[in-house]
Amino acid sequence: QKGGYEHFMLKEIYEQPKALQNTITPRVKNGLPNFSSDNVPDELLKNAKAIHITACGTAMHAGLVGKSVMERLARVPVNVDIASEFRYRDPLVNEGDLVIIISQSGETADTLAALRLAKNKGAKTLAIVNVVGSSIAREADCVVYTHAGVEIAVASTKAYMVQLSVLHLLAVRLGLLKGMIDEAEGKRLVSLLGAVGETLEQMLSDTSLVQAAAQHIVQAPDIFFIGRGRDYYLSMEGALKLKEISYIHCEAYAAGELKHGTLSLITDGVPVIALAVEPKLFEKTISNIKEVKARGAYVVAVLSKGVMLDDQTADTSIHLPECDEFTQPFLTAAILQLLAYYTAKGKGLDIDKPRNLAKSVTVE
Ligand code: F6R
Repeated sequence: QKGGYEHFMLKEIYEQPKALQNTITPRVKNGLPNFSSDNVPDELLKNAKAIHITACGTAMHAGLVGKSVMERLARVPVNVDIASEFRYRDPLVNEGDLVIIISQSGETADTLAALRLAKNKGAKTLAIVNVVGSSIAREADCVVYTHAGVEIAVASTKAYMVQLSVLHLLAVRLGLLKGMIDEAEGKRLVSLLGAVGETLEQMLSDTSLVQAAAQHIVQAPDIFFIGRGRDYYLSMEGALKLKEISYIHCEAYAAGELKHGTLSLITDGVPVIALAVEPKLFEKTISNIKEVKARGAYVVAVLSKGVMLDDQTADTSIHLPECDEFTQPFLTAAILQLLAYYTAKGKGLDIDKPRNLAKSVTVE
């Protein structure tokens, strides 16, 4: 059943290129994103007065990356909320708003309650769901199914990856509908998305650098992840993945926020996983990396291809393969999944079934 892989989590990481292809291909027509076969009317996106995204855990982290790409391409404000917060704080959701609900299982209790609340407030709801016919899929106004296939490992990997792909396609569609990007740019972005699976597949053929980095952090009691912008949102997912399966305390911090408190925790040998991928924020993040390095941190830098840091800045570097800025999140995410996996494996833990956690959280 594990197809020769030691754990379902690793198998599912390697299934991602195929899952991306299965999810993206049906939503591309004439080189542009098209959600007509999902019955998502263009008006739903175009007329949305405000956009809200709500979900739990990893799905919420996908929503954060979605926010950054939607805001960039369509220049519409997008609020992202944890479902268990959203539902209890009388959210400012009104008729005419669009609420996007993200869930692998389609059964998460808080996410389902958030969907019902959004509908009661008169908003239109669009669910991004993996499990066909699940409660959230049945109750939402429209559904875009991700085609990750069955995900067995408790730690979500391929479902997150395909959630990212749907959010990127929606962002391009929204950008076109709002007149913020032209058709040529839309086509360019969609063709980049179409190619990301292949790039990911090549990257997965040699994971030796990630495995080596995992060996350096396996004994640590605490690990920090830092990044800015989109890299910060990816850091949050990297920290969640690592903590849930390795039982190492992990925290993600916006790199620019370090000096406002967290820097006091950085002492000799504390690992910091530093994401400095997003080009326009690179220099700023590098200066934060230097800050932690000067306090003795063991820095694992995640960088774009060809970027070299001296050993005064990083102890070890992991490079993304050659790719466009638009598709960087997919590759960064896979690096962080592998880092979590190999660290937990180094500790000999029950990777597919971490203690105290369930695959589907149907109680509050
Ligand atoms: C972490 C993980 C969880 C889920 C969360 C939401 O690896 O899998 O954080 O993402 O419980 O689950 P779904 O997507 O089924 O609503």
